[in-house]
Amino acid sequence: MNMVPIIEKKKLGQALTAEEIDFFVNGAATGSVPDYQLAALLMAIRLNGMNREETKLLTLAMTHSGDVVDLDAIPGIPVDKHSTGGVGDTTTLVLAPLVAACGVPVAKMSGRGLGHTGGTLDKLESISGFSVNLSEEDFLAQVKTVGVAVIGQTANLAPADKTLYALRDVTSTVDSLPLIASSIVSKKLASGAKGIVLDVKTGAGALMQTTEDSIALAQTMVRIGCDAGRNMVALVTDMGEPLGSHVGNALEVKEAIDMLAGRTQGPLLTVALELGARMLVLGGAAKDVPEGKAKMEEALRSGAGLAKLKEMIVAQGGDPACCDDVSALPQAPVVLPCTATGEGYVAAMDTVGLGNAAQQMGAGRRTKEDVIDPAVGFVMNVRIGDRVTEGDLLATVHAKDEQSAQEAIDAIRRCIVLSSEPVSPCKLIHAFVNSESVERL
Ligand code: URA
Ligand code: CA
Repeated sequence: MNMVPIIEKKKLGQALTAEEIDFFVNGAATGSVPDYQLAALLMAIRLNGMNREETKLLTLAMTHSGDVVDLDAIPGIPVDKHSTGGVGDTTTLVLAPLVAACGVPVAKMSGRGLGHTGGTLDKLESISGFSVNLSEEDFLAQVKTVGVAVIGQTANLAPADKTLYALRDVTSTVDSLPLIASSIVSKKLASGAKGIVLDVKTGAGALMQTTEDSIALAQTMVRIGCDAGRNMVALVTDMGEPLGSHVGNALEVKEAIDMLAGRTQGPLLTVALELGARMLVLGGAAKDVPEGKAKMEEALRSGAGLAKLKEMIVAQGGDPACCDDVSALPQAPVVLPCTATGEGYVAAMDTVGLGNAAQQMGAGRRTKEDVIDPAVGFVMNVRIGDRVTEGDLLATVHAKDEQSAQEAIDAIRRCIVLSSEPVSPCKLIHAFVNSESVERL
């Protein structure tokens, strides 16, 4: 088979066959098709789309481009959840221990920060000694004994996605529904969980900015997952502003621990409980969402969730001292307030700008080689709808030095849009999507 007619077909907006899709996915995984032909095809897909059948074939071909993890040896129904990426989006660290404490095994392969978004692996690595690189054997053993493990993707998981994702990142072809759906779902299918809850973000800080586009992405992914024999559902949740108040790796771990210890609440906890309740339903531990939520709340109240996090940290070689004393986490040397220079209602936030500000401080990578500073970031003190007057605290920045702190303060001020008119707080959960229906909330 030859790439040129495949590119030609998609250039003309025609549907590709299973053989054609298998050919280029295999080429991406093995390196037998050159990057320039893959890049041309990705742009043709970005511009002309793919129909439902093509998107499914693409996802399945990518899933089988590498190893598919077999979780059958794990007693019960192993579940996973995946977020399309956000800022201050620490739901995994809050919900994974709670779900495991309710008796449902959580076998989670997470990612690193990407662009303006943070990554669970980078957050976990701010815990001294914590290892995200477990062999498949150790991963399975830990899910069996502890009930939860969060690790990086094993080397040969969906290798076609590794090639295609890296090309998309540098050819302006990330924002394509079939490409996003196939990328995410292929990795979830390959990582083996039977029940999968997707958290599809929507709004200024998300891949898909309108609710309708986000619902369409959620529907596409859920249909493919269910067609492939997994139980998959999705929530469409807000990313018009950071979800948690803490942005930065150790800061986000601190916020998750504070939540599990019952010291703080807020939208991050609300979304984590909603997602976790659905994981309990898929894992067979709750008959419906209200029962799932009640069980999650009980695991939170009793401290069972925090105890489970501690157990997971110890199992993965980390120092659990931070669970009892959050000051054991890395601390930034410079902590300064960012105050309002005007007055009004917080009307909008440039969430991408906030994520980029954290990245600029050292919380994320600008190049693949960059080393993350776990201690830096900021804690937001306002949300959309809040009224502020001059001098009010907008955020507290945690920086490596004075200059970086000042740059972050300026950036955060620019990202917060004030209006003289009152503004309503953001709706947190926009829709629930399963294979049969969309429930707009
Ligand atoms: N996350 C992924 O893994 N892939 C995408 O395409 C977008 C977000
Ligand atoms: Ca099983």
